[in-house]
Amino acid sequence: MKFFIILFLTAGLFSNTFRTVRISENASLAKTLMAADTTKKDPETGLVADENLYMVKAQCTSCHSSKLILANRFTRDGWKQKIRWMQANHNLWELGDTEKQVLDYLEKNYAPTASVARRAALKDIKWYKLEQN
Ligand code: HEC
Repeated sequence: MKFFIILFLTAGLFSNTFRTVRISENASLAKTLMAADTTKKDPETGLVADENLYMVKAQCTSCHSSKLILANRFTRDGWKQKIRWMQANHNLWELGDTEKQVLDYLEKNYAPTASVARRAALKDIKWYKLEQN
């Protein structure tokens, strides 16, 4: 019995020696965060830079900060409804032909799926034995 207890305790001690660490978890997480960060942003507004940004800046940042856009995610239809709501209640003008450009931009860059709420599942995890010093 004593022998088994000693064996058990020793095993406990040694299991620490062979503790494994998931190194690639951190590497992969860093990559995900970096990928989210490499999108080009307009320094003035913080909005994603693309070919329709100038129109969104012209039509959408004179009454309020771009932060109201940045804080929201809607579908194309949802953005259209917001525009209609501002037109009905907050003196937003008719956007005319430019509405398509504005909606293209908002749908592409600020759709509900565009947010990285959670990193992708880890793949190809490489394990290694932790050296004891
Ligand atoms: C004529 C002024 C004006 C312009 C131009 C304007 N907005 Fe607004 N917008 C407002 C006002 C006023 C509010 C309400 C602010 C508040 O609640 O404090 C608002 C609110 C918002 C909100 C927040 C809505 C919510 O549910 O809280 C979003 C998103 C938004 N605007 C996007 C846009 C976009 C996109 C454009 C360009 C098409 C735009 N705005 C152009 C006046 C404007």
